[in-house]
Amino acid sequence: MSEIYVGLMSGTSLDAMDAAAVRFDGPLPVLLATHTTEWPSELKGKIQQLCQSGNDEIRRLAEVDPAIARVSAQTVKSLLVKAGLTAEQVTAIGSHGQTIRHIPELGYTLQIGDPNILAEQTGITVVADFRRRDMAAGGQGAPLVPAFHRAVFTSETAHRVVVNIGGISNVSILPPGSEQSPVTGFDTGPGNLLMDYWCQQQWNTPYDKDGFHASQEPHDPILLETLLSEPFFRLPAPKSTGRELFNPAWLSSMLEGFSGLSPTTIQATLCRLTARCVADAIKQHGPETGEVFVCGGGANNKTLMTMLRKEMPNKRLGSTSDLGVDPQWVEAIAFAWLAQQNILNLPGNLPDVTGASGLRVLGGVYPA
Ligand SMILES: Nc1ncnc2c1ncn2[C@@H]1O[C@H](COP(=O)(O)OP(=O)(O)O)[C@@H](O)[C@H]1O
Ligand SMILES: [Mg+2]
Repeated sequence: MSEIYVGLMSGTSLDAMDAAAVRFDGPLPVLLATHTTEWPSELKGKIQQLCQSGNDEIRRLAEVDPAIARVSAQTVKSLLVKAGLTAEQVTAIGSHGQTIRHIPELGYTLQIGDPNILAEQTGITVVADFRRRDMAAGGQGAPLVPAFHRAVFTSETAHRVVVNIGGISNVSILPPGSEQSPVTGFDTGPGNLLMDYWCQQQWNTPYDKDGFHASQEPHDPILLETLLSEPFFRLPAPKSTGRELFNPAWLSSMLEGFSGLSPTTIQATLCRLTARCVADAIKQHGPETGEVFVCGGGANNKTLMTMLRKEMPNKRLGSTSDLGVDPQWVEAIAFAWLAQQNILNLPGNLPDVTGASGLRVLGGVYPA
């Protein structure tokens, strides 16, 4: 019987812990079951606090680390029940952990959620800490999904791009042909996180469901140019980013002088910013691109999809569901795949993407 892996992912959006049980014995991953656990609000607040410097950090870190692991373990147990699987049937869990710092310029990235507890409570081998080996080899430790995108989404004939729009957006530019073709991939900048901040602040909702607020008014071209003045957008790849740069303080400073704009105009402009950054990245690094497929929560934002279409009128635009993989589960599946790569002693990074000095087997193993 073929092997089953579980991927566990919670990204910068901090919306939820996603879990997927997957088999990789065909051309496409076979998704056996999925489960999502919303973060308990108290724990979510503590994680958000840990994402910035503050008092008594080591104690707070030491308390949140096992709490995340317990939510992870519970998520896996619920997933196994849904899938009708026992722990013995799962080869390994690929656990991304929750990023609380990602500052590649300073050479560190930190994902927490103790894998020892996860292995102990599930009885399943855990692969975790995927990013730091790449960083130790001189890379950004991110993005890590392009290797998976290449393995699964490469077309024989088309120049294709996969865009993952989570809290941050990243692109994988996939030339046609072999799975071994060189791939360009990097973080383009904000995905949903600025839109989420603004929505929380203005309407007290976690995100702009289906892009409703952003659809109410046109974007403001002058504010858009101001947002685009951020130097990150002009940095050459490899590059990656996070909440350390794109946060409420960044947004407030950019909005100075724009107090006359309505909240919906600002929401529309933040949405357009995400679309523009993706389109600019593709124009610059993948001018031959014919097809663009979106995954991550951003694929559900209808206004964002409309804006991407406006930015790239001559390309086919869809979501990864057009290629047979539900966009909501691509990242969790990718971490199941990265766990498999580790167990098979195969590399998980793409040095062209992360800037590492070579291919590396990613992650540490915590046996069942
Ligand atoms: N129906 C929807 N309409 C608009 N945005 C959505 C919708 N569903 C999800 N999202 C956005 O997707 C985000 C979660 O995306 P996800 O891929 O899980 O990101 P991450 O990898 O950062 O956790 C949410 O915070 C929200 O901004
Ligand atoms: Mg998420």
